Amino acid sequence: MRTLKIGNVKIKNPLFLSPMVEVTDLPYRLISRNAGAGMAYIEMLYIDAILHENKKTLNLMKTSKEDSPLGIQITGNTPQEFNKVIPYVKKYDLVDINCGCPSIRITGNQAGSFLLKTPKKIESMIKILKDAGLTTTAKIRLGFNKNNVLKVSKLIERAGADALTIHARLATHKNSIPADWNWIKKVKENIGIPVIGNGDIVNGETAARMLDIADGAMIARGALGDPMIFTRILHYMKTGKEQEFNFRENIKYLSQYLILAKKHDLIDMSRIKLIGTNFIKNVHGAATLRSELMRIKTFDDMLSFSKQLEQKEL
Ligand SMILES: Cc1cc2nc3c(=O)[nH]c(=O)nc-3n(C[C@H](O)[C@H](O)[C@H](O)COP(=O)(O)O)c2cc1C
Repeated sequence: MRTLKIGNVKIKNPLFLSPMVEVTDLPYRLISRNAGAGMAYIEMLYIDAILHENKKTLNLMKTSKEDSPLGIQITGNTPQEFNKVIPYVKKYDLVDINCGCPSIRITGNQAGSFLLKTPKKIESMIKILKDAGLTTTAKIRLGFNKNNVLKVSKLIERAGADALTIHARLATHKNSIPADWNWIKKVKENIGIPVIGNGDIVNGETAARMLDIADGAMIARGALGDPMIFTRILHYMKTGKEQEFNFRENIKYLSQYLILAKKHDLIDMSRIKLIGTNFIKNVHGAATLRSELMRIKTFDDMLSFSKQLEQKEL
């Protein structure tokens, strides 16, 4: 399996777990790594929230020694904020600037994908983090409402970024529009830093095709409730054959998630239920299981629910 280096950060394989809001907390990253992911990130954090040091954000910033290498993803709207946030983010292996989030809550503050309209700001933000000695990357889309990906990618490289992730859609595109990987290929041919491709990777074959054109393959929805997607992709890379989804093996990771959440004092029942729902979404009898899950009130009941599922043939 080929490895990858971003700045001085060594990554054991090119499979990246996407940063995902409400999903990629410490226990989720750990189970995804156990299932084979080579790299993972803390979900997007708004710099203001970090600077306010509220409890929820501090919990999201928790890590452990097995949670490595680790990126923290941040967004904001002024280069000055990036100066202020340095002491909070310098302990992580790398800092990724989110220039892709389409949510109105974020773009309304001129952050996330809105930054694609003001690429000079991205350049300043990268320079600030690089001047502080941090390994710095950016995650972009093809553009906000028109494609400017080549221009922005070149500028990001020129600013000194150590790698670039491209989610191959415009910010105004819904996920029902297929990601256009031709642009990932074009950017890769035009810049020298590692390019991580993202959008619509769902199995071994799509991951392998992405790795033909890019240095890394980043997976989001495919890894929701299915950390074993990384195991199956690694199997495909070795054998050229797709492995079937195995519910009983996969659901063990839900129990593992719960045990790790307890160990790291990160029990949040509403998050746990959301994560649990993802694990059962496509199985036979999903609707009944889901309503059972929704009635659960305590952590211990959630753990027994998950343990029982390990015995089920679904
Ligand atoms: C639940 C969820 C949360 C997400 N949160 C983030 C985030 O925090 N930061 C980010 O850069 N992208 C986020 N995304 C976008 C994904 O990282 C990814 O770019 C997009 O889903 C396309 O990849 P996919 O086809 O593998 O899902 C999120 C996506 C989902 C489904």
